[in-house]
Amino acid sequence: MTDYQTYEDYREDLQKQIKGAVVRAKIGVEAVKEDHESAAAKRIREEIDNLLEKHFSQSPQTDTSFAYSAQLVSPPKNAKVGWTVDYALPTFAISRQLGRNPVDVAGEIADCLKDSDLFARVETSGPYVNIGVKDSLLLESLNSLADDPHYGQVNDHQHELAVIDYSSPNVAKPFGVNHLRTTIIGESLSRIFEAVGYTVVRDNHLGDWGTQFGNLLAAHAEYAPEIPFSQIDMDTLNRIYVRFSQEMKTSDALKRKGQEYFSRLEKGDALLMENWVHALKLSLAEFQAMYDRLGVKFDTFIGEAYYVNRSYELIANLPKEKLRGLVEFSDESPAVVINGQHPVVVITGDGYGVYAARDLATVDFRVQEFKPEYIFYVVGEEQASYFQTIFEVAKQAGLTKRESANDTELEFIGFGLLLDKDGKKLSTRKGTSGKLEDVLDAVELRATEETKKRNPELDDNSVRLIARKVSVGAVIWNDLKADRVSSVRFDIDRMLELGGDSVVDILYTFSRSTSILNKLSVAELTSLETDLPKTFSSDHEHRLALKLSEFSIVIKRAAAARSPHILAGYLSELAQLHGRFYEESRVIGIDDKALAAMRILLHRAYVNVISSGLSLMNIPVTDRL
Ligand code: ARG
Repeated sequence: MTDYQTYEDYREDLQKQIKGAVVRAKIGVEAVKEDHESAAAKRIREEIDNLLEKHFSQSPQTDTSFAYSAQLVSPPKNAKVGWTVDYALPTFAISRQLGRNPVDVAGEIADCLKDSDLFARVETSGPYVNIGVKDSLLLESLNSLADDPHYGQVNDHQHELAVIDYSSPNVAKPFGVNHLRTTIIGESLSRIFEAVGYTVVRDNHLGDWGTQFGNLLAAHAEYAPEIPFSQIDMDTLNRIYVRFSQEMKTSDALKRKGQEYFSRLEKGDALLMENWVHALKLSLAEFQAMYDRLGVKFDTFIGEAYYVNRSYELIANLPKEKLRGLVEFSDESPAVVINGQHPVVVITGDGYGVYAARDLATVDFRVQEFKPEYIFYVVGEEQASYFQTIFEVAKQAGLTKRESANDTELEFIGFGLLLDKDGKKLSTRKGTSGKLEDVLDAVELRATEETKKRNPELDDNSVRLIARKVSVGAVIWNDLKADRVSSVRFDIDRMLELGGDSVVDILYTFSRSTSILNKLSVAELTSLETDLPKTFSSDHEHRLALKLSEFSIVIKRAAAARSPHILAGYLSELAQLHGRFYEESRVIGIDDKALAAMRILLHRAYVNVISSGLSLMNIPVTDRL
């Protein structure tokens, strides 16, 4: 952040941010990206699609674009058929398409797939086809799973741009826990989108405008005029603001004063704007400390204030005829209101543009400046209907039109509440400030105690470094392991507990593998040069290798559903498979070189996938707990 004082300087800094982001977006969109999917996973699906397409193309009813392999599911865990089923192919959808009986169709599909030399075994079970994949297929691609640092990334969405609006806290208020979920989910989704090829612009739509800033500046004039605004600190600012908001409720004079200051601010009063810049700077410093702690980076921090002028111009030029019925323009006053189940005010009766006016201008700006395929909004479910209304108006008014390309898609990505361990809304819980920093500190303190207990020999500084990573990871994992639309409980004990589906469980398996790899002697490492065995030595090795081969498929699914919890679920399953593999498949001190090489490769692939997977969730890895 540059040190600006006046609004003009600040604006110039913002323009630089925007220019930089536009250039990066252009470079990203033009770049040709690579595909790093497992060759085994790809071949399995291509084989199924090719064989079945060929087979069923004789049937006149089939639509040849039917995605056969997309039907594949993991077999139920407790299904007892006496052999390792890797996939089951339910035939219901296919038979519906063909207008035939699923059991017959299953038989036909099984016969067809038996011809392939990728599969060790294919059998029907009623309307299902059970498929076992050959060890050799998985073994052949194991090297790239272990060695390729980009393993898992695909290029399905290369040349597509997504602007993602997340975090967006409110200036001059503490960074509260209420902005934690948007920050965590938004960052993870940005990374997941990048992993499937999108270029992503991360934009923080700061809440830095509105009548509350009139109140804030009036509060200074009222309660602390002796302190020059440029020397005021955050605590004082918060204190006078809270006091003003309280006293304003029963004082018309204060209310008027707040309005008067806001009106001067909107007109661009130079001194007030300078004070506003000071408040913004204080907040940005506080926000940045949290972003650094959480490992979150934005391309731009374009707050609402940036859009004030643009919004008045835009609203004045809206196509009134086209929007008839949807948007009401009052004849008696400047008021503009969007109709709907919950009407949304755009311009108040006094002629002030509010949140919605600036959001319309924001859509316009983003489409003009970035021409993205998507604009995603990661905001709490409580704003879902507001955004649907804004999107509708934006579309009708033509704000999402792009020259010689499809319209920009506006998409709301909502999430549920953050609750305390007793199920009450966390931010309103008694006895806590609701400040994000305090909550993170509390988790870190617990993590520090646990780390010390586990490592009594470690010095304080090393303990602190581990505890910081583990605590941030615990908070993020706790959030992302749940479906984003459901609510999340913030239970510090549980999120750090081993064996409670916490990040600690995942990191523990990770550290087990890394410690084996670290212990390997030079002689054992050179055994890696030998050829791999033709088969795995056990079923759990096969299952682990198969799961590892599905990384890209999971990433694509998580991206398509805008749901990091799909990735979290996958990493949990991997960690479970790792348990038996670690216990039963020894590496150190065994004589069979080929066998050792294969197992070492599995450990390395595991470490690679877990660290990439956690990184897609923005969880810091540590091999020491
Ligand atoms: N500052 C808003 C809040 O705290 C969130 C902004 C979300 N993004 C937007 N474009 N409106 O509720």
